[in-house]
Amino acid sequence: MTEKLHFQRLRRNRKYSWLRDLLSENFINQSDLILPIFIIEGSNLKQEIKNLPDIYRFSIDLAVKQAQIAHQKGIKAIMIFPVVEKNLKTADGIEALNKNNLICRAVKEIKKYCPEIGIICDVALDPYTLHGHDGVLDEKGDVANDKTVELLCKQALTQAAAGCDIIAPSDMMDGRVAAIRSALDREGFHKVVIMSYAAKYASNFYGPFRDAVGSSGNLQKADKKTYQMDFRNSREAIREILQDEKEGSDMLIIKPGMPYLDVICKASQHTNLPIIAYQVSGEYAMLKFASKHGALDYKASLHESLIAFKRAGACAIITYGALDVF
Ligand code: PBG
Repeated sequence: MTEKLHFQRLRRNRKYSWLRDLLSENFINQSDLILPIFIIEGSNLKQEIKNLPDIYRFSIDLAVKQAQIAHQKGIKAIMIFPVVEKNLKTADGIEALNKNNLICRAVKEIKKYCPEIGIICDVALDPYTLHGHDGVLDEKGDVANDKTVELLCKQALTQAAAGCDIIAPSDMMDGRVAAIRSALDREGFHKVVIMSYAAKYASNFYGPFRDAVGSSGNLQKADKKTYQMDFRNSREAIREILQDEKEGSDMLIIKPGMPYLDVICKASQHTNLPIIAYQVSGEYAMLKFASKHGALDYKASLHESLIAFKRAGACAIITYGALDVF
């Protein structure tokens, strides 16, 4: 009996650090990480964000520097989000289509001074709408799917024309990937990549992000449950994923990340498209606040959380901690 148990000594493979390294199945590199950057008007501005400690809103000139720092660290892509001035917000979010808006100017400047880094732009109207929803509303106050999709196509074209490499629709309207793909191709942007937020849940973990871009005040008590997914479901996520794949998405985002590892794992069994995990603002805030209070070791727990995404089947991770891992 004891003899038999000795065949099964799993601790044998864990005895030495070199052996554990030799046998480890998952790794994280700088090149697996995408850094989100918040952009504000002005120059030489670096604003703290109350609920995202150590993350800032940068004016374009400093965002360029941040992109350069990321590039030097070996990060391959950034995701940029505009903080739109209040007086530019409207019911239809039309500022999203302005060729000279904050995000377009940011794309151009970053491309000029840091051409090696990939730029990902969010497609959704929420930074631009007075009501804080990702689309326009119909007479009844519902987010109007097809009218929104038309605007999203124009928003994507505006960003592509500015030089954005990857378009990331985060709005969760039906049919937007196919519509955006056709619009891009029609206008000669067939090389522009689509990274769709395929399974994006109506999550409580986006709070700090909405504060950062100033959309929470606009949204007030409203929620996004009629377009973002119900967090009680995972089979539905597979429908979303297969749909986006069929519509021509080049890669898929699952969001949030840590509480949704099961969805990443399941998705990786249903699609061969690359899967990107989004470790969202609330997840970063949990790690950061807990470590600031001495409950967690920030770097170690961040590293562990990123490995967990790899283990689940993600090939890259969008994380506010992208500069902190190495
Ligand atoms: C906008 C958008 C959101 C996030 C990314 N793009 C917020 C939302 O859907 O309300 C959340 C990112 C995060 O929490 O880090 N559609």
